[in-house]
Amino acid sequence: MKIAIPKEQRPDESRVAASPETVKKLINLGFEVAVEKGAGLGAAIPDAAYEAAGAAIAADATVAFGSADVVAKVRRPLPEETKGLKAGTLVISIADPFRAGDELKPLQDAGVTAFAMDLIPRITRAQSMDVLSSQSNLAGYKAVLDAAAAYGSAFPQMMTAAGTVPPAKALVMGAGVAGLQAIATAKRLGAIVSATDVRPAAKEQVESLGGKFVAVEDEEFKQAETAGGYAKEMSPEYQKKQAALIAETIAKMDIVITTALIPGRPAPKLISKEMVESMKPGSVIVDLAVETGGNCELSQPGKVVDVNGVKIVGYVNVPSRLAADASALYARNIYNFIELLVDKEEKKLAVNWEDQIVADTCIIRDGKLVHPALAPQEEAPQEDVPGEEAPAEPAAEEEKSDDSSDGQGG
Ligand code: NAI
Repeated sequence: MKIAIPKEQRPDESRVAASPETVKKLINLGFEVAVEKGAGLGAAIPDAAYEAAGAAIAADATVAFGSADVVAKVRRPLPEETKGLKAGTLVISIADPFRAGDELKPLQDAGVTAFAMDLIPRITRAQSMDVLSSQSNLAGYKAVLDAAAAYGSAFPQMMTAAGTVPPAKALVMGAGVAGLQAIATAKRLGAIVSATDVRPAAKEQVESLGGKFVAVEDEEFKQAETAGGYAKEMSPEYQKKQAALIAETIAKMDIVITTALIPGRPAPKLISKEMVESMKPGSVIVDLAVETGGNCELSQPGKVVDVNGVKIVGYVNVPSRLAADASALYARNIYNFIELLVDKEEKKLAVNWEDQIVADTCIIRDGKLVHPALAPQEEAPQEDVPGEEAPAEPAAEEEKSDDSSDGQGG
């Protein structure tokens, strides 16, 4: 079995899909590993470290792809990256399939089988492969550091001879994996933290981290979590009530971190222009949802926008800004997934297509779009996006893990 680890080509991507540790483990599993020259540099892993772990260094991706049975990447291959992929290769990446549009076509044309790591189901057995958790956790931490860097005051209360510096008041919107880590990080820095979410389960988690929970807790809120553990899109009536509560809360905040997502849908708009205008000059908003449309009406991808002295930070691909840790965790997620695809006795690929993890993540099989949520509308109703009740494939649905996240992620 041969596996290739190419250098990521997207300009904002510093992560890599293998670490020296996982190279060794892949070799033990029976793989010959080829790493493209310079693939790890953005994550502070020199070629020599891969070589020392037993990998061959390939001059370019085409050389690495040539004979590979598996290609492991961080991000979905760009159309130009599909050149040199041979039919039947297993291509594993964070494929972001629902926003990929035409970019899935070259993978289909190449006849490959593609897996989306971002569709790993949230079941106990798959926790070690859960890239959304491993990467969001780091993003939540980094968002608070980015906020602190843009904020012209201190987070903790300080009693000095010259007087008292008041503590920063922070609001975290969306208390999933990123949000819980943001709460924990802002608390550690000394801020007074509140948080909001539409899932009732979030309340206890926020409070266990010492945050104050702020939400419209009506009947709809009690039903707002899907079987997959994700948030549902809320009704216009709920959104109106939520907006009124947020408007009242946000005006008192110094720091706002937004992380609210709904799988397969644009991010919910939680902060309007008027709300931004109600905030004090010097306040900072960090919008972690900026790539899926943003939680704040005024945030812009890749930019820091200044609105009357309120800074709105819209950095994209935040996990890549902590590329060393993000790569180390992603590489382990990838290794754990690949282990599932291999017959360890025979040391050969043996994909069990009935396995729920395989069925849920496979988007293209031998060039054909197979994921139900990607099929044409008449074949796949909208409810079939991940996180909704219907399982992606007939494979037996497994129990959802009761994630008792303390903000450290999985
Ligand atoms: P996410 O990244 O999809 O969304 C972030 C947060 O935004 C979620 O908590 C969501 O409820 C919230 N949100 C959505 N719409 C909102 C709105 N209008 N207003 C306020 N908040 C809104 O979620 P993430 O971080 O991926 O976690 C989703 C769930 O999955 C959580 O319950 C988490 O604990 C659980 N989980 C389970 C795992 C497992 O079982 N293996 C692993 C990781 C997470």
